[in-house]
Amino acid sequence: MKTSSTLPAGIAALAFSVLALSTPASAQVADSITIYNAQHEGLTKEWVDAFTEETGIVVTVRNGSDLEFANQIVQEGANSPADVFLTENSPAMALVDGKGLFEPVDQVTLDQVPEQFRPANGHWIGIAARSTVFAYDKTKLSADKLPKSMLDLAKPEWKGRWAASPSGADFQAIVGALLQLKGEEATAEWLKGMKENFTAYRGNSTAMKAVNAGQTEGALIYHYYYFGDQAKTGENSGNVSLHYFKNQDPGAFVSISGGGILASSKHKEQAQAFLKWVTGKGGQAVLRDGTSYEYAVGKGEASNKALVPLADLQAPKVEASTLNNAKVTDMMTAAGLL
Ligand SMILES: [Fe+2]
Repeated sequence: MKTSSTLPAGIAALAFSVLALSTPASAQVADSITIYNAQHEGLTKEWVDAFTEETGIVVTVRNGSDLEFANQIVQEGANSPADVFLTENSPAMALVDGKGLFEPVDQVTLDQVPEQFRPANGHWIGIAARSTVFAYDKTKLSADKLPKSMLDLAKPEWKGRWAASPSGADFQAIVGALLQLKGEEATAEWLKGMKENFTAYRGNSTAMKAVNAGQTEGALIYHYYYFGDQAKTGENSGNVSLHYFKNQDPGAFVSISGGGILASSKHKEQAQAFLKWVTGKGGQAVLRDGTSYEYAVGKGEASNKALVPLADLQAPKVEASTLNNAKVTDMMTAAGLL
């Protein structure tokens, strides 16, 4: 600095030390990212806390839902304050990717996750997985009375006997998988039967609670709602058991939770570091040992041992990157479900 050379040595030294002191602070500002988080808040908090402790990168988390944030990101375009987008399910990732708003994920990060848990184009990556289940009242239904296929739930014999949360991204991802696996006609037919047969609840926890309270015989939800409640008091799942459809049934759909970096991010290096960490040993250990009960997807990474192993679920092959939520919500609206 030109002016400092004219200052007495003491003041120049002071100016220098102030500058030196201020450097870590400004470096810290640069070493921060903002996440639009649509994953469960508890899981993302476990991830973020451990990531910050390990890397020193500060993370600001804004919480919302899959499609709410996906649409917001599209609206914000290049001005989005978000660096990273985390979702519960793939359709919201597909929506943002369809608008060309993702930065490709680093190859070293992609290599940490098997191909079945990430889109082929590498624009985002699977960070966790969740299994569809039929959570049923074990005091009322014996194994031989359970539906063999998710498609059975649209048959007349299931009228008035099951529940779901149709407004949630979790359930809409299941319908998206059905659409991809069985086509438009079969999906429309199933939604029609669903409308006849089911009771709507807001949220998967609420639907499971209704099963537990004897208000309905079963609910089509994801597995971790049950395990999370069992690990706490079990008060909302004491009468509940899980039925896995397996056999590549649409009801055996495994939903991929996604992570992506926005092309507009000003902190791409830190954002890439975050996705690398989440899909690596540290982030996947949070899935194994934490309270989320979602499946780990990292290569060679174990899930919580309370869970039925992912490899045993006989999930159908679904291309996560093309799950079409706009079509799903149109069809669900047409069927009177939304
Ligand atoms: Fe969920």
